[in-house]
Amino acid sequence: MKTFTSEPLTDILAWVHNTLKESDTVTFAVLNPDIARGAYAGEVISIEENSYLYRSYKAWSDLGELLFCRLLTPKPASEYTILITYEKLNLSDSFHASIAKEEKYGTASRFASIHKNEEPAFLSAYLRALRSVKVGERKRILNLGINTGDEFDLIRRILPTETYANLELVGIDHSESAISVARERFDEGNAAFYVHDINDLTSLNLDRFDLIITIGTLQSSSLEFKSLFASLVQNYLTHEGAMIVGFPNCRWMGGEMIYGAKAPNYPYSEMSILVKDIYYCKKYLQQKKFRVTLTGKDYLFLTGTKIG
Ligand SMILES: C[S@@+](CC[C@H](N)C(=O)[O-])C[C@H]1O[C@@H](n2cnc3c(N)ncnc32)[C@H](O)[C@@H]1O
Repeated sequence: MKTFTSEPLTDILAWVHNTLKESDTVTFAVLNPDIARGAYAGEVISIEENSYLYRSYKAWSDLGELLFCRLLTPKPASEYTILITYEKLNLSDSFHASIAKEEKYGTASRFASIHKNEEPAFLSAYLRALRSVKVGERKRILNLGINTGDEFDLIRRILPTETYANLELVGIDHSESAISVARERFDEGNAAFYVHDINDLTSLNLDRFDLIITIGTLQSSSLEFKSLFASLVQNYLTHEGAMIVGFPNCRWMGGEMIYGAKAPNYPYSEMSILVKDIYYCKKYLQQKKFRVTLTGKDYLFLTGTKIG
C-alpha cells in the first residue's frame, strides 16, 4: 500500500493523477487528520521517528473534487494513518449532456434528481440572499426558471405560516412536466405557475413584483441575458423591489456538485463570462440606486436592494 508521510502535495497529486489514468479508484495511506486537529495543511507532525505533513479531511475532500472523484469513507490503516480512497465520477452522468429543449430540465431528466437545498454550499448562500432582501417583508415574488419549485419551498420553510400565506408567488418555466409538479407542491392558493417562455413575459401581463428571484436561468443560451435583466429591473420590479440572481459556478456530475463552471473552449473551469455577467448586473443595479452584494461559492448570489 502506498503511504505518504512528508511528501509535498505536488508529489501526491502527480501520483494520484497517474494512478487514475490506469484505474477507476486509487487508495493510499496518510496521517489520520484527527491526530493533529487544528493544524494547517503542510504543518510537520512528528510521531515516534516519523514526520508527517498534516492535511485535513477537507483538504482530502477538495483534492478528490479537483480530480473529479468522490471520496469514499476513510478506513484506519495503522494507529496513526488512514486509507484515502478516491473513485472516479461518471462524467457522462450529467444533465449538461442532454440536448432536449423545453424538457432538458423536466421531471424525466437527470436534473430532476438534483435537490440543491440539500447541498450546504447552495443552501447557506441562498438563505443568506433571502435574508438579505428581507423575504418576509416582500409581498409579490416572481421566480424565473422555477422548475419544480425548490426555491419557493425554502421560502415556505423559513417563514412563519401566516407570513408565507400572505405572499403572492408567481413561477415561470417552459418545462411543462416541472411546472405540473410545482402546481401540486404549492396548493395553498397563493402561488401561480405558468408554462411559458421567459422571452415573452409581456403576453402574461404580470404587473410588478417586490422581489424577483432567478437562479441558474438567465445565462441560458435561449435568453438574451443583458436585455432581459434590464427589462426585469425596469418593467417588473416595484420602486422598492429587490432582486436575487443566482449564477452557477459548478457542474453536476455523477451525483456530485463540482466547484467551477465549465466554459466553452476551455478544458477547465474558466470564469471570464461569469465575472462579466455578474459585473454587468452589479453595475446596472448600482446605477439604478441599488445596494448590491455578491456571496456564495458553487453558486454566486447577487442581491440588489434599493438604497434609502
Ligand atoms: C438550470 S435550470 C435552473 C432551475 C432552478 N432555478 C434551479 O436552480 O434549480 C433552468 C430552468 O430555466 C428553465 N428555462 C430555461 N430557458 C427558459 C426559457 N426561455 N423560458 C422558460 N424557462 C426557461 C428551464 O426549464 C429550467 O427549469
